[in-house]
Amino acid sequence: MIRHSTPAAPTAQVTVKALVNTVYGRLKKARLAYGHGTTNAWDEAVWLVLHALRLPLDQLTPFLARNVTPAEQRRIWGLVDRRIQHRLPTAYLTHEAWLGDRRFYVDQRVIVPRSFIAELLRDKLVPWVTHPRRVNSALDLGTGSGCLAVLLAETFPRAQIDAADVSHAALAVARRNVAAYRLQRRIRLFQSDMFSALADKRYDLIVSNPPYVSAAAMRALPLEYRREPKLALAGGKDGFDRVRILLRQAVHHLMPHGLLIVEIGHRRKQLEAAFPHLPFVWPLTSGGDDCVFILERRDLPEEPPAVHQATRASPRSHRR
Ligand SMILES: C[S@@+](CC[C@H](N)C(=O)[O-])C[C@H]1O[C@@H](n2cnc3c(N)ncnc32)[C@H](O)[C@@H]1O
Repeated sequence: MIRHSTPAAPTAQVTVKALVNTVYGRLKKARLAYGHGTTNAWDEAVWLVLHALRLPLDQLTPFLARNVTPAEQRRIWGLVDRRIQHRLPTAYLTHEAWLGDRRFYVDQRVIVPRSFIAELLRDKLVPWVTHPRRVNSALDLGTGSGCLAVLLAETFPRAQIDAADVSHAALAVARRNVAAYRLQRRIRLFQSDMFSALADKRYDLIVSNPPYVSAAAMRALPLEYRREPKLALAGGKDGFDRVRILLRQAVHHLMPHGLLIVEIGHRRKQLEAAFPHLPFVWPLTSGGDDCVFILERRDLPEEPPAVHQATRASPRSHRR
């Protein structure tokens, strides 16, 4: 059940410290779900207050004694009420999310970025990629906000990046982020159902954080996660519908030395049971060693390619 909070009346004298404490208490009482940029009520309270006051999000201490005006208090309580009443992740209220130290615009057309693949990119995919400057091409399949495509472009400065998503709405957000990072020349956006619009393209790297939530897990999702596009989360009965397509078709889109890097949540056991003959490698991330797998092209089974139809997304069609 969603509990409704009572808006607090603004008072003339209240400090940032007092306000963060009160917001924290309110969030805690509301028993929210976290995982969209923070993991607890305290961090979320600090984020909401500092955002509403337009202060740097990593600097609470210098501002603890600052007075908060009645207008600012109203702004803060407006955000807190929406967070609690609608169970909206804070990132959708503030329209910003971070992956590593990179900021991305987000709204409800895309999931809030949190892919563990970002950590591997921060390390330039070493040791699996031995010469990052020799990476010429990469695909981000299921690009959402475009966050991984942007990180790929930054990590591999010589690479041309293709970023594909079946969702026109998501591509509009990706376009905005690509433009914000001035990467329009290096990142091409495609509207594509998996590989369908990428007919004869081959890449050094294919990266994907596909929908991988099973039907049973979808039914149990906290409300905050239901505010995200279902298309970005639901992976069919066992969660692996799109992963199966990746495992079947990536071989036709990888260079001979190419790598496939896929995030699947904490589902290593289930995937290894479903594909016992594939030599998955599970790099360690802060999520553990069961979230992301890497396969070399030579480890993927050869199968006849699917029939493709090429359609590059028109730049105008995705403008907000
Ligand atoms: C888990 S989200 C990942 C978004 C982004 N890469 C990230 O890490 O934040 C999965 C994305 O895959 C897209 N998607 C779902 N089904 C797809 C399909 N059949 N073909 C291409 N993209 C698909 C969704 O629209 C969504 O943006």
